[in-house]
Amino acid sequence: MFASRTNWRLETNRLTLALEENRRSGKQLLDLTASNPTTCGLAYPEREILAALNDPRALVYCPESKGLLEAREAVAGYYAGRAGFSGLSAPVDPECILLASGTSEAYTHIFRLLCEAGDEILVPAPSYPLFEFLADLADIHLVSYPLLYDHGWQIDFASLRAALTPRSRAVLVVHPNNPTGSFVKPREAAELAEICAAREMAIVADEVFLDYTSSATPRHTFALSDRALTFTLSGLSKISLLPQMKLAWTVVSGQQSAATTAVERLEIIADTYLSPSTPVQLALPKFLSLRHALQAQLQQRVSANLSVLKSMLVESKSLALLDREGGWYAILRVPVTGTDEDLTIALLERYSVLVHPGHFFNFSREGFLVLSLITPEQQFQEGVQRLRKFFCE
Ligand SMILES: Cc1ncc(COP(=O)(O)O)c(C=O)c1O
Repeated sequence: MFASRTNWRLETNRLTLALEENRRSGKQLLDLTASNPTTCGLAYPEREILAALNDPRALVYCPESKGLLEAREAVAGYYAGRAGFSGLSAPVDPECILLASGTSEAYTHIFRLLCEAGDEILVPAPSYPLFEFLADLADIHLVSYPLLYDHGWQIDFASLRAALTPRSRAVLVVHPNNPTGSFVKPREAAELAEICAAREMAIVADEVFLDYTSSATPRHTFALSDRALTFTLSGLSKISLLPQMKLAWTVVSGQQSAATTAVERLEIIADTYLSPSTPVQLALPKFLSLRHALQAQLQQRVSANLSVLKSMLVESKSLALLDREGGWYAILRVPVTGTDEDLTIALLERYSVLVHPGHFFNFSREGFLVLSLITPEQQFQEGVQRLRKFFCE
């Protein structure tokens, strides 16, 4: 009765069972995977947020397939003053921007634009686990290319090139990547553009964490790439810490004729759904303007938790923090005494601490745990103290 693309394994996994058991036991859980910014104790300007949704123009329906122009202009403003990888800092044209209700929807539209059923998209490993489901729903295959760690992460171009087939349609990058926190380097962006332009493939760049960087200099954006056809995705969920508003965008750039055709076709896909709601589109300029203060709070949280983690690791010979450049996560290298899943379950059962096992993000080896640095500070501190006890006592 059901399409095979929905034939997912639905049985509860061991970690979820252990988590349910922990809840039943009534023990207080120290959740170091907390990634919902709206429930981790940040001070939101609540009145301003609600007032922005109160625009009387929302009483009239004026559908625009790419999204309301004033919302797209605000998104273009977000890129003002930023530089592309080739040094270009021209303004982003609002006509090359399309709104969607979440990056997942934007991904789906791009996959439908580029891929026949069975085509392939190259994705980094480790990276964000949702891609598997998006690919299943778009009837495409994901082919992993490795990111290698050697005092920082880098793209393994030999493996990436070896993974290309006539069915490869795009290379996906997450900039900075989740969970490694690594940005694509200018040299890597140039090589990717060369590969994709030569094979008529596209670059799909997820920049939802772009503003969360540990260095003072702003990072390059793919939105100003002019060589290969490039789709740059971002949205309010991370940039303004408002995931509940369900608003994201795609910027299309690259050689003019391909970019124009891509926008025309994406516009038809978007017009078929017209997903983003009018009140949220009207509020987008305000929501973007609130990002500076909200991001500053979050960066403070990330820095404080990172200091706790580093001080906890100073005397530890068995635990190491991998280098990171941005994002919301920290990766711990831990002794391989079992699978990451076994370790995570043991940590939960013995110390009521929840972390992500590396395999959740498609790490190729055991021995990695992922911690969310946006966890409330006290919870994080207590959690890492217990984690240390688990491994070192
Ligand atoms: C790399 C990456 N892209 C996209 C998203 C989700 O974005 P949205 O809420 O706009 O669908 C996430 C959420 O964690 C993410 O990690």
